[in-house]
Amino acid sequence: MPVISGRLRATPSRLSRAFAMTDRRWDSLWINIRLATMDSTGAAYGAIDDGALAVVGNRIAWVGARADLPGLPATCAAHVHDGGGRWVTPGLIDCHTHIVYGGDRAKEFELRLQGASYEEISRAGGGIVATVTATRLAAEQSLYDQSLPRVCALLREGVTTLEIKSGYGLNTENELKILRVARRLGQALPVDVVTTFLGAHAVPIEFAGRPDAYIDTVCTEMIPAAAALGLADAVDAFCERIAFTPEQTERVFQAARRHGLAVKLHAEQLSNRNGTALAVRYGALSCDHLEYVDEADVGAMAEGGTVAVLLPGAFYFLRETKRPPIDWFRRHGVAMALATDCNPGSSPVTSLLLMLNMACTLFHLTPEEALAGVTRHAAAALGLAHDRGTLTVGKRADFVLWSIGQPAELAYRIAFNPLARSVRAGHPIDLAMLETGPR
Ligand code: NIG
Ligand code: FE
Repeated sequence: MPVISGRLRATPSRLSRAFAMTDRRWDSLWINIRLATMDSTGAAYGAIDDGALAVVGNRIAWVGARADLPGLPATCAAHVHDGGGRWVTPGLIDCHTHIVYGGDRAKEFELRLQGASYEEISRAGGGIVATVTATRLAAEQSLYDQSLPRVCALLREGVTTLEIKSGYGLNTENELKILRVARRLGQALPVDVVTTFLGAHAVPIEFAGRPDAYIDTVCTEMIPAAAALGLADAVDAFCERIAFTPEQTERVFQAARRHGLAVKLHAEQLSNRNGTALAVRYGALSCDHLEYVDEADVGAMAEGGTVAVLLPGAFYFLRETKRPPIDWFRRHGVAMALATDCNPGSSPVTSLLLMLNMACTLFHLTPEEALAGVTRHAAAALGLAHDRGTLTVGKRADFVLWSIGQPAELAYRIAFNPLARSVRAGHPIDLAMLETGPR
């Protein structure tokens, strides 16, 4: 991969020698664009006002000011694209979803509006377990068909990398079914799907009152099967009063470690169970939700380099009132990512742009922090910081052109999609295909 240069400003004469008039080094070159590189050096949003970005293969080969290009655009690349003055950001990354599920929970929404709490519904056999019943009943193709429009909605807003968790199957057959559907979605659509095994999401009915026996199955059957088939990139668990204890969670993490899988955790969403400290001890990529996390745990996250994944959709939809401690994350230097948490019970959300707005209005993030949360920090939450999340030479050529006057508009507007073009692995995505569905 010819990595030509970062932001070259010097030695134009040497560069023009390197680029003879016929030497079209780059496959494509985008000019007349304003770059929000989202790298952490220098200007707000890593902005370059009159920028250019070059692609070789599926990688970014050059990023910088147009004035610093080593020659006339047509001499440098086989294809030159005029961005029409639009802003360009890295491709968006939704780093926490449960987007593959059967049925819906609209009835439960009505019950909650009449006063029932999420926890009461869960304890009465509704909640996650209700979605497990619908997901088990769904044939694999039906599950795929139900999930496809949700994924397409995210792609229309510039998502180029998407994490999908299992966790609504709760037995080997159905957990693997969900993970296979997740992989298929990534093969059929122009998006990279990262899968996470979440067998420890809830105790299934057949194990009612025997959570440890269920965790045995998770550790000795499900994780080995998912790992052997290459269906899981990481392992997650739900450490909570209505789910699993830290001790049970630790057994899941040990099984993940035995199979060489990274871990992450749904931690301190409804109460403080000290899951965060445990996750950090296991080198977790991220801890997610975190409304009830305490400051000592935030300090531990900073030391461990664990990303805080904030989920304002679930906060909003469950009418939670305790905000995650943003000031502690800032003070301790914990990276904050943002995601939809797309799921039928606590966050029926298929708009990552809406999460930018909610993160600002509900959690008081700045628009720049919010955008970093769905780019640079979301990549880190998936262990992909080296490969994507910023517009940097050598990283994947995943980027989005937006019809906006300034980057803060992405967080400012509500239910408006200013996406002009989405480019994944160097290739513009056919947005019309997302309307008609893949072949
Ligand atoms: O992230 N917290 C656990 N899991 C999901 C909720 C799943 C559901 O209610 O179906 C979440 O909020
Ligand atoms: Fe979740």
